Amino acid sequence: MEEPVDSWQVEYDAIDADPAEARAVDVAVTSALLQASAETVEAYTVAAARGEEPAQWRRASLVSNQVLRLTAEELRALTEQVHDLLRPTATGSGTTPPRAPGSCTPPCASPLSRRARSPRRGTPGRARPATLSGMTHSESELDAFGEWERAAWETRAAPYARSLGDLTRGSVPALLDAARVAAGSRVLDVGTGPGFVALAAAARGAAVTAVDQSTAMVAIARDAGVDAVTGSATQLPVPHGGFDALVAGYLLNHLPRPEAAVAEFARVLVPGGRLAMTVWDSPDANPSLGLVGPVVTGLGIRGAVPPGPDSQRFADEGQVRTLLAAWQDVEVQHVRWSVEVEPGAWFDAVADSAPRTGAVLAEARPDQRAQARERYVEVARSSYGGAGGRVELPAGAVLLSATRP
Ligand SMILES: C[S@@+](CC[C@H](N)C(=O)[O-])C[C@H]1O[C@@H](n2cnc3c(N)ncnc32)[C@H](O)[C@@H]1O
Repeated sequence: MEEPVDSWQVEYDAIDADPAEARAVDVAVTSALLQASAETVEAYTVAAARGEEPAQWRRASLVSNQVLRLTAEELRALTEQVHDLLRPTATGSGTTPPRAPGSCTPPCASPLSRRARSPRRGTPGRARPATLSGMTHSESELDAFGEWERAAWETRAAPYARSLGDLTRGSVPALLDAARVAAGSRVLDVGTGPGFVALAAAARGAAVTAVDQSTAMVAIARDAGVDAVTGSATQLPVPHGGFDALVAGYLLNHLPRPEAAVAEFARVLVPGGRLAMTVWDSPDANPSLGLVGPVVTGLGIRGAVPPGPDSQRFADEGQVRTLLAAWQDVEVQHVRWSVEVEPGAWFDAVADSAPRTGAVLAEARPDQRAQARERYVEVARSSYGGAGGRVELPAGAVLLSATRP
């Protein structure tokens, strides 16, 4: 699980610019991408300041932040170009997007074409592989992100086991059905965490092996009675072709190289074996976690999370089909359920369990964290309030399944 914090806030740290300037350019570029009118830009900007920007705006903002990996000079030049693009749509009502300071005397060099010719600063001579989402990261960034994830789960295993199972268990029956797990199936559960999926598969009579790279998670899963071993999703410590089904609940978005993991999954499945994985749906479709993101993002804390793949890319069916292009019978389903919680306690549970959200909140001052918590409780109660201050939060996952050729 890991959707609450959007990666756009992380991207700001990669640029040589004043954060206010970067934000101004972000707004300008995002507006251009959406071809938004001045009124729409104003409405979206106001909503974004409240942490309530529409998903469409947030997605365009993610794209614009790729553009923002530029020098301050390039940013200024780009700002001029984008403002030129936007001018015809302005209504003269004073609602044009904020202007970044500085200017460029035309003709300005195109920062985009310059960028396309040279690798990113800080990674001289290294090709930047494109991820499925179109965002690019160097090999060393991907390695650093993977190591950061590994270390994060060591400290978050216990709180995750205590509270997040109440949420993730909701999608387990659909996951096991998609993998056609039944009595006698040989099942591998990758990224088992505390073993919620593995235990449910065993309850169906399957012979289950579980793998997780966190030793803390493996210890918890073993205590729960799971046959769990420590290992990486991209180098599974199991033989070729030993499994009829491979399941992975909320693992994919934590991987720096999901393509490598999926190739490894094919290695350990028998021909005709089933693969089923869940990822969190977009925040709009998954308020159980999606409500936390804007509140935490609104704190404006940068740099807590290293650059890494877009945590929401597999909520997009096109990205799933690209990832599983070599597989047969690829299916994408949307699973819906709900979880009833006390919102303050739920905010704390997510903060303690989710690496990215937790890392951002760990940088917050106590008063900032308290303010974010209060805001979260207010939003959750006003949207999903029930009896006694508890809330029933809708949950949504994307379930990907396929057959090994
Ligand atoms: C969000 S938890 C999911 C736990 C469980 N499957 C569930 O559905 O609740 C993600 C788990 O994947 C593990 N994980 C992350 N990256 C991994 C990797 N590269 N190889 C193996 N496990 C990994 C983490 O340690 C963590 O236990």
